[in-house]
Amino acid sequence: MADIERAKKRVGELREQINYHNHRYYVLDSPEISDAEYDALMAELRRLEEEHPELITPESPTQRVGAAPIEAFGVVEHPVPLLSLSNVFSCDELLAWHKRISNLVPGRDMDFVCELKLDGLAVALTYTEGRLTTGATRGDGYRGEDITQNLRTIKSIPLTVPKGAPRKFEVRGEVYLSRSGFEKLNKERAEEGQPLFANPRNAAAGSVRQLDPRVTAKRPLDIYIYSLGYAEGEGVGEREMPPTHWETMEYLKSLGFKISPYNAHVSAISDADKYYQRWKEERENLEFEADGIVIKVNSFELQRVLGTVGHDPRWSTAYKFPAIQATTRLLDIGINVGRTGSLNPYAILEPVSVGGVTIKRAALHNEEDIRRKDIRIGDTVVVQRAGEVIPEVVAPVVSKRTGQERLFVIPARCPVCGGELVKPEGEVMTRCTNASCPAQLYELLAHFVSRSAMDIDGVGEKLAAALLEMGLVKNVADLYSLHEQDLMNLERMGEKSAQNVLDAIERSKQRPLARVIFALGIRHVGAETAELLASHFVSMDKLASASTEELLAVPTIGPKIAESILAFFRQEANRRIIDELRHAGVSLEQERKAPGELPLAGREFVLTGRLEALPRSEAEARIKEMGGSVGSSFTRKTTHLVAGAEPGSKLEKAHALGTKVLNEEEFLRLLEGGNK
Ligand code: IVH
Repeated sequence: MADIERAKKRVGELREQINYHNHRYYVLDSPEISDAEYDALMAELRRLEEEHPELITPESPTQRVGAAPIEAFGVVEHPVPLLSLSNVFSCDELLAWHKRISNLVPGRDMDFVCELKLDGLAVALTYTEGRLTTGATRGDGYRGEDITQNLRTIKSIPLTVPKGAPRKFEVRGEVYLSRSGFEKLNKERAEEGQPLFANPRNAAAGSVRQLDPRVTAKRPLDIYIYSLGYAEGEGVGEREMPPTHWETMEYLKSLGFKISPYNAHVSAISDADKYYQRWKEERENLEFEADGIVIKVNSFELQRVLGTVGHDPRWSTAYKFPAIQATTRLLDIGINVGRTGSLNPYAILEPVSVGGVTIKRAALHNEEDIRRKDIRIGDTVVVQRAGEVIPEVVAPVVSKRTGQERLFVIPARCPVCGGELVKPEGEVMTRCTNASCPAQLYELLAHFVSRSAMDIDGVGEKLAAALLEMGLVKNVADLYSLHEQDLMNLERMGEKSAQNVLDAIERSKQRPLARVIFALGIRHVGAETAELLASHFVSMDKLASASTEELLAVPTIGPKIAESILAFFRQEANRRIIDELRHAGVSLEQERKAPGELPLAGREFVLTGRLEALPRSEAEARIKEMGGSVGSSFTRKTTHLVAGAEPGSKLEKAHALGTKVLNEEEFLRLLEGGNK
């Protein structure tokens, strides 16, 4: 065989293998060979094509790197127009849509396909005699731009289709950028000092409409195919085209196209709503952005009967998720000092509604981020409420600049305490160096709401940080004056979750005094000391006015703890917080506490043997303070036997009855309130 013949044969084999592995990797997401093995195949193909350039065809897998740049895109006429979709925004509207179309085809059963509505760019791909011949944007639906060379660089778009496919056909789909691809791209752009894309959609659109396909080739674009535009010619005659949308998707999958794995075939409209609810909740976990779902009548025959109104088919509608982005004006940039003294700039916005919640403030992260995104005071900006608790400013709309915008500069001194600022090498945050700057409030707030303190369910670290950063809470007592709207401004959660947080705050007003004392974060006052103080003093006021002697009279309280408690209540600011808590209705008296709420309530202890760490009288006192009782003889009512050194016969009895036995160490841990 001549050299060229051999090369031709090998080139054919290699292309077939590479296409197979491309499909496994990019379409099915299930590679069969290692990257190194794949690279070796590509290298061999490249070498042969270099030696025999006459063998290169546009469909060769080596040709996905991008062709030469062009001056302008050509125009493509769409033989079958690309329609748009009507929208619904609620379940009621969805049901109304369903009712309308059902009435048009009375007595006919209808099933549906639900798909995620990807937020990218619609394209039409035409295949002629087995090869991708044209790739076009949607344009106005009738005429789009010829972006074939760019689309060829997307690895999940097959450049060829198997024999037996229709002679000529067109598939349609959405080109998109994954979230990770988008972030990576923006990071690179920031490093190169280029303007950032506001969202993956803009980035995808910008990438696909590049005049230089080599730029497109570098963008991690992907595609899902969601319909067959038309099919004609041989293959069609030989093989009946499927009669439904669902089967068509299966068919296109078999031709090598990438079909969304999230598609669902449902028989009732209520299932479409379930599909919507599910993805509305889980959209943040998807690897791409979806702005809703698309519901399609499955049967093509019914689709034809239903027809279109204007540009929208009656047989399909988009059920949109609440928006996550909007544009508004950046009125000013404020600064809050965070938990570790970091200066957090935040955006003061002209109020704007994003997904039904009015946003007035949004995060700006840090000074460098502001500079990187080139955000200026006075700019029109894109704001977003996504997975983050705090809405954020994504990017400026540079085209709306008037020249009146101002650059932001970080102040010379801490805006909270006037303290000196530092910006450590390699860090993005400027920090206040003053150790007693109110920034430390964060730690306190996190402690205050924690389970072992006021146990305010739903106010976690994230929300606590958000409340502080947005200046909604300046001390722990401020939690009790939060309003629903305050929370809704911060949280991606809606009214219901905001109300849940408020309910949890409300419930915390009834916490036992010991919890409140502990929650105040007095140095050296742990949960157990707080219990002792509460039982001893019975009210916050008595504790606050206790003298050193009175404090020292409480078992286990020594001079160090006593001094710390005195110091705490000497501070005017702390007394004010107590007043505010009282004013808010937080219970500051022991009486309100049912004895059943004490940690050892309902437990009966018997002590036996010698305890090393504390006198028996004190051990008994502490059990009682924690709500337990102490028996002198071992009975069936005994729940715990504390066995010190040389325990004697009670221990055997306890073992015989299966009663819980604690050694001294375990007992001490129990008294400390830890179950560790
Ligand atoms: S079907 C008549 N399915 O949403 C059917 N469209 O206005 C028209 N889109 O620009 C399209 N995901 O690019 C369909 N699974 C999906 C889709 C989808 C996103 C886009 C499409 C079009 C817009 C509809």
